[in-house]
Amino acid sequence: MDSSYSESDSPNPKTQIQMSRTYTIKVRDRATGKTYTLQVPEDRYILHTGEKQGVELPFSCRNGACTACAVRVLSGEIYQPEAIGLSPDLRRQSYALLCVSYPRSDLEVETQDEDEVYELQFGRYFAKGRIKAGLPLDEE
Ligand code: FES
Repeated sequence: MDSSYSESDSPNPKTQIQMSRTYTIKVRDRATGKTYTLQVPEDRYILHTGEKQGVELPFSCRNGACTACAVRVLSGEIYQPEAIGLSPDLRRQSYALLCVSYPRSDLEVETQDEDEVYELQFGRYFAKGRIKAGLPLDEE
């Protein structure tokens, strides 16, 4: 009698494989005016999966810190527990960081205007204004 194991010995292979759901993500790139449609499994980052599908979107750090990949969610649900660069206030305003975001439904998102999220988060701390030359170091 042959005692070797084969795939057909498995009681029910279908019950052993956990399939993740895949969602359709529409991304409107405001810089180029193009709209892309991606298929992203629920356990994959949207930015990385888009790149594998040939879609190039803005990014820099890929760690959820710099906000270069920020989008505004127009519809759908997104999950981004590692988005440390995005304030709770901006999350409530439907912003998300695609480099560390997972889909939880079909989604429609649009990219930010250049530095939009940075300005919203930090603009009040680094207000644009006239700089007085020499101050405050010219008091010697
Ligand atoms: S690329 Fe920096 S936060 Fe996404």
